Amino acid sequence: MKTYREYRGKGDVIMCVTGHPGINKGCNYVGLNVVQIPTDEKKRMSVAHLKKAISSKTVVVVCSAPQYPNGVVDDVPELAKVCKSYGVPLHVDSAIGGYVLPFIEKLGKYKFKPWDFRVDGVTSINADIHKYGYAPKGASMLIYRNSTIRRNQYFSFATWPGGIYISPTAMGSRNGGCLSGGWGSLLHLGVEGFTSITAKVLEEVEKLVKFIKEDAELDLEAEPDSTIVSFHTKSFSCYLLADALEKRGLFVEKQSNPESIHMTIMPNHIGKVDNIIKAIKECIAEVKKNPSQYDLGSKAMYGMMAKIPDEAIT
Ligand SMILES: Cc1ncc(COP(=O)(O)O)c(C=O)c1O
Repeated sequence: MKTYREYRGKGDVIMCVTGHPGINKGCNYVGLNVVQIPTDEKKRMSVAHLKKAISSKTVVVVCSAPQYPNGVVDDVPELAKVCKSYGVPLHVDSAIGGYVLPFIEKLGKYKFKPWDFRVDGVTSINADIHKYGYAPKGASMLIYRNSTIRRNQYFSFATWPGGIYISPTAMGSRNGGCLSGGWGSLLHLGVEGFTSITAKVLEEVEKLVKFIKEDAELDLEAEPDSTIVSFHTKSFSCYLLADALEKRGLFVEKQSNPESIHMTIMPNHIGKVDNIIKAIKECIAEVKKNPSQYDLGSKAMYGMMAKIPDEAIT
């Protein structure tokens, strides 16, 4: 966000409600105004709403490949067309997809459109090596279409008695350990390693999605494009199911707006999804039999959170 503020000046950053709050945080730090737009019916950033929101005040548009809540890849080519027609840059947040989507595509299993620099109008992409690149936390990539945009990322100060200070990130001195871990992971696995891990993870994702689609109590939040699956329950709060799973040591993420359960399938889940499905089935039966046992858990807490106006907690 700092790069785009320097490149374009102050103004609005348009993102979708499903965009990661790290973008909101970045805007807050560098004094940019966030304009949030809704999703379409497939949980992708709404192109129609972008057309209404984009203006001469827009500094950059941020979309996701995929967005975290539902694992859906935004329609980058259509978003890029709108951005290009206004001369506005488009950043693609591929934090959790950058090291998965290329291999899904290699496997021929993709349902999404191009999302990277093949799309004219995409000006930058971030991809976390510390997620599906299997590196220690702290290793990420931010790449730009050209050096004209990239140079705005740097902070420089030339008149210090200690010498010329040039820094590309918010952090000054940085830990090289996570970077070498990331480099090691990329070299060790290579394209073949990443493709074969992605194939195995996708098998587990497909199993889970099939189960959710077939189970009478569960509803998929959105058809996932990658390795993230989100769903909700039909006849009771899905927080009760999440709490029942947690009691068994299975931790799932509870999402709100709307209430749903989020599961990011990683290589450590390979070979375990059958057991997870079994546990979900048993927990559904347990909650249905005795819902009051879970009523004071997350459902109560999330219910209370929903009643607190944002201003009270910010
Ligand atoms: C799409 C997306 N963007 C940004 C982030 C933030 O990543 P981090 O917390 O590693 O900075 C995440 C984390 O899951 C994400 O999924």
